[in-house]
Amino acid sequence: MPSSAPISGFGLGLRKDHYAEILDGHPAVDWFEILTENYLVPGGKPLHYLDRICERYPVVMHGVSLSIGGYDPIDFDYLKQVDALARRCNARWISDHLCWTGLDGVNAHDLLPLPYTGEAVRHVAARVRLVQDFLGRQILLENVSSYIGYRCSEMSEWEFLGAVADEADCLILLDVNNIHVSAVNHGFDPREYLHAIDARRVRQIHLAGHQDFGDYIIDTHDAPIVDAVWSLYGDTIRHCGDVPTMIERDDNIPPLSVLLDELTRAHGVADAARCPEATA
Ligand SMILES: [Fe+2]
Repeated sequence: MPSSAPISGFGLGLRKDHYAEILDGHPAVDWFEILTENYLVPGGKPLHYLDRICERYPVVMHGVSLSIGGYDPIDFDYLKQVDALARRCNARWISDHLCWTGLDGVNAHDLLPLPYTGEAVRHVAARVRLVQDFLGRQILLENVSSYIGYRCSEMSEWEFLGAVADEADCLILLDVNNIHVSAVNHGFDPREYLHAIDARRVRQIHLAGHQDFGDYIIDTHDAPIVDAVWSLYGDTIRHCGDVPTMIERDDNIPPLSVLLDELTRAHGVADAARCPEATA
């Protein structure tokens, strides 16, 4: 069974642009999050670099293929590969998204929101329990950003997230940027969302940038984190405590030094949230 030893501090999403710099420079990053699907093909450069980075840093895994809210059967062949990778890199935990990604074997290649209903809670929670039983550990589910809602929804997104986590007894990867993006797109108060979250279930935090089009936001992960998200992150630390935090950058990848500077800012915001008299 892979180690589930807790990790702490501040991490980065591992991207191939930075492999050599990480191995040569050994930057001061507490841990890395890998994109699961990038390392499921046997052999090749990704696994070559991953093995070496795992010798130096703790790693967590983040997937996009579980489709935990979907109606296609759970893909246990995929889960076998996930489990093998987790053992290989001693992944401290495994996360995916509270969403669905396709139907009848057709992958939409997008993280689609679910209707927030009691029926969907029971459906998703039953599938999470299957996954957790197979992997022999709790998984983390991340709140996704969204642009549409369902007329049949019976509760808020934050009530839905909490109900799924409680019924499945799983953990939460809280993406602060996604809360902000969805709050703007749907017109809710992001702090009402945040304060409704059961802090005991939050195991990891994501921070990221986006593109703001005025009355709506697209969650692009291709830009620096904005001030509104930094502010919400400070409130998140006040609400949840010291939760391991990382920055996601998936496009327009800057030099590693730029992301390390953003990580330093995350340190400062968290310090200021824990100790208000300190300066961020
Ligand atoms: Fe995220």
